[in-house]
Formats: sequence, C-alpha cells, structure tokens
Amino acid sequence: MYATAVLMVVFVLGLVVLGKRRAKIASSAPGPLGWPVIGNLPQLGRKPHKVLTDLRERYGDVYQIRMGSCPTVVLNGVKTIRQALVKQSEDFAGRPDFYSFKFIANGNSMGFSDYGARWKMHRRIAQNALALCANKKYNPIEEAIVSEAKFLVQNLLKSGERPVDPHNEIYLSVGNIICALCFGKRYRRDDPDFLQLIKNNDEFMAFAGAGNPVDIMPWMRHFTKRSFKQFLMILDTMNNLCLKKQREHLDTYDPAYVRDITDALIKATEETTNAEKVSVGLTDEHIMTTLQELIGAGFDTIASTLQWSILYLMTNPEWQEKVHQEIHTTYGSDKDPDVADLSELPYTEATILETMRHSCIFPFALPHSTTKDTHLNGHFIKEKTLVFVNLWSVSHDPEYFNEPELYNPSRFLDTSGTRVDRSKLDFFLPFGTGKRKCPGEQLAKMELFLFFTILVQKCKFEVVPGEHPVVDSKYGLTLKPLDFNVIVRERNQADQGQEPNLVK
Ligand code: HEM
Repeated sequence: MYATAVLMVVFVLGLVVLGKRRAKIASSAPGPLGWPVIGNLPQLGRKPHKVLTDLRERYGDVYQIRMGSCPTVVLNGVKTIRQALVKQSEDFAGRPDFYSFKFIANGNSMGFSDYGARWKMHRRIAQNALALCANKKYNPIEEAIVSEAKFLVQNLLKSGERPVDPHNEIYLSVGNIICALCFGKRYRRDDPDFLQLIKNNDEFMAFAGAGNPVDIMPWMRHFTKRSFKQFLMILDTMNNLCLKKQREHLDTYDPAYVRDITDALIKATEETTNAEKVSVGLTDEHIMTTLQELIGAGFDTIASTLQWSILYLMTNPEWQEKVHQEIHTTYGSDKDPDVADLSELPYTEATILETMRHSCIFPFALPHSTTKDTHLNGHFIKEKTLVFVNLWSVSHDPEYFNEPELYNPSRFLDTSGTRVDRSKLDFFLPFGTGKRKCPGEQLAKMELFLFFTILVQKCKFEVVPGEHPVVDSKYGLTLKPLDFNVIVRERNQADQGQEPNLVK
C-alpha cells in the first residue's frame, strides 16, 4: 500500500518534471506550472481569452502554457503580435497539425493547412476567386446584400413587437449572401439543405474552439466519440452539398462567363497547369474545397457580429438613437445605403468598430504554429510550437482602449466627435495581420455596413420589458452572444422589404 503511494507520487512528480522539461524545450518563455497530462487546461475555465489575457500581467507579452501535453506559446499585445506576424511573418505563419484539421474539407483546407508553397498557391486562388465575385462588375453583390437586409428587416418585424430571438433570421440572411456568392443562388428559408447548413454551423464552431481536447490530446477522441462523430457528420454534409453544387455547375460551365465562386474555382483548376499543381502538391480537390472553406468562414463571422450589434444597440438606447439619427439624416427612411458613404457616417462606423472590438469574435484568431526555430522578445521558440495569437488582449488593452470592458463607440471618434480617429485602427486587429490575415476582410466590411445600416434605418431594437439581457459570450472558435430576445419596432411604415428574386 505504502509502496504504491510512493510510486504514485514519484510517477506524478515525474510527469510534472517531464511536462516542464518538454515545455522548456519548446520555448524559453516563462509561464505558469501545469498539471501532468492535462497541463494548464483546468486553469482556462469557461473564458480562456480572459484568463490568458490576465496572465499577461504576470508573465509578459510572450509566455507559455501547456494545452494538455502540448506546449503552447501565447502572444499578447499589438506590438508583440505585429512583431511576430508581420516582421517575422514566415516564422509564425504555420498551422498546427491538429487531429481535427485532418478532417476539415477532407484534409484539403487552405485556412487550416500549414504554411508552405502549396498553401501560398491555394490562398492566391481563393483570394482571386473572392475578389472576382465580391465585386460589382461580375456579381451585383452589393445589391444582393441590400435586398437580403431588407428581407431580414421584414422577417424580424413579423414578430409584431413580440419578443424574438434574432439568431435564426440573421443566420438565414447572411447564409444566403455567401450562398449567392458561392453558388450564384439564394435559398428559400425552408429549404432543407439550407436549414441543415445553418444548424451545422453552430455545432462546428462550438466543437472547433481553441482548447478543443481532441486536438491537444487526440486520444481523447475515444472518450468523446459521440461529439467527434457528429463533427465528422457535419463536415460530410457540407462536403456533399458542395459536390452537388460543383456537379450542377459543371453541366452549364462556360469559362467566358464566370457566374460565381464555384465557376471561378473550376476555372482555376483549368488554368493552373499540371506542372504548377504537381510542383506544390495542390490538387483540383484542394481547389474545389475552397468553397466549403469560404462558406464556413464567411457566414458565422458576419452573422454573429450582427447578433452582437443588435444586443449592443438595445442595451445602449441613447447611442442607438444617435446612430439612427445619422443614418436617417443621410438616407431618410427609404434610400438604400452605399458602401462608398462609410466615411461620411462616423457614428455608424464607430459603432461597428466598437461592436467588433468589444465582442472580439475571434479571440485567438486561428491557431498558429512556428515554421522554424525562432526568437521573439528575447525568448527562444522551437519549430512547430503551437502559438495562440491573443487578439482579445489587443482589443481589450487598457493602454489603447480606456476602460476596455465598457461598450463605448465614441472611443473611435476624434476629439471633435465628428470623424473616426483612424489612428485608433492601428491598435486593433479584428481580421488578424500578416500572412494569415483574413482574406474576407473587404467582403466582411461591406456586409457589416449594409446589414447594420439597413437594420438601424428601419428598426428600433428594445429590451423586453422585465428582462435584463446579459452582454456575455459563449466560448467556441468564435465568441457568440448568449441567447437573447429583443423587441423589434418598425421605424417607418414605408419601404417594406420584398423577398429577393428566388432563382432556386
Ligand atoms: C466579421 C467578419 C470576419 C472576421 C472578424 C474575420 C476574422 C478572421 C481572423 C481573425 C482570421 C485568422 C487570422 C489568423 O489566423 O491569424 C481569419 C481567417 C480567415 N478568414 Fe476571416 N473574418 C471575417 C470574415 C470572413 C469572410 C467574409 C471570409 C470569406 C468569405 C473569411 C475567410 C477567411 C479565411 C479563408 C481565413 C483563413 C486564412 C488563412 O489561413 O490563410 N473571413 N478571419
């Protein structure tokens, strides 16, 4: 009995020492002690972004923890993150070899694949396809967003001033924009494929958050069989939907007339020579799975930012009136907003910026990894070390954002209060930075401005009497607001949205 106890103590101490030694080998950065096997996981709690931001005070901008047995370097603060991702961009542009990443887009994903020649070519193709289609000349995407936003207003107002949870309507509307871009078609609200897509999204994001046990301790999949199986099922549904669309497109494909992102990707498979593809290991399957990737990335992000927008508007009624006044003065109640006017609407722009800053939907970007042995702020970091880019520590840094926990759009205005202070944008990285910076930034800005402006132009959002909405998030790959209900009142009887043309 005594001998067993001694052996147990020696074993546990051994693991602690081994864990510490492993962590030391990965990086010379300081950090808190972790438990054997599970490392610092228990310390992360339900708000890892806040816990890891607090650790910055004690250990500095670069420190290390262990996610399970996986040594992880955490980067904090805008200066250090810029130094790593921009000045030493190649060193930090990798992605970790996570167990779940092997299944995303059949292992052919661009966003989740490691840095190298194949990723570079894949990213260029994805960026070109996006630029070709999210552009007025080839695809009237701005008009599509405006009509979808008006249709969203119409559906929210159907609640007839009864409490409504805006989640589904927002997701259906934003989902239709990315489907219009990718497939050239929008869906009916009751289409089973479309409803499945929306349902899958929430489950995918909840599973794929940083700190997912299966990724840092792959053996855990044997204990989380049900949720992992469900994750694979979600990926399979998405894969089948995109394959179906690809086959439909191929039947009518004309290289002289690119209708949407599916066509643009088919064209890329034809125009990239075999020699080019072979030289970097890129296949047509890689190129076509970009579709799944853009749908996944381009829809949850915008939809959750809009959900946050409504929550902040209803809990800050005075500010909501100011923004409404500005939009009403510029467009009245009927005129459609134009993205080109963004800089003429400082209250609107500042509100969108503050919504993105305060909610910080991507607290750790996507997980990074080092591509070679490197040094940062004097600390050694070994090749292939998992790196968390703590974007929460940037958007909630009291050095640049006074009282960061307060929602206060006027912090983005200059001293005259009439223009957005552009210098503030240097301290704020909602789309990340460097080689892995979000390629959907322009599309995202366009969608957020048009949806937001139309929602505020036509609706007034109020707290349900007797309810006290909590402005807090659920943790996952993206931070979403806790479920809430809102009262949506109509601002003006005129100009009700019509359902956009249904081409499906
Ligand atoms: C509010 C909207 C959005 C935000 C805040 C956002 C933010 C981000 C962030 C922080 C990253 C990770 C950067 C890193 O790992 O360092 C990222 C990556 C990515 N985003 Fe976005 N994003 C948004 C919308 C979009 C849209 C609309 C699309 C495309 C339609 C998109 C496509 C992607 C892709 C493909 C990647 C992976 C890039 C790579 O690894 O090379 N995103 N985004």
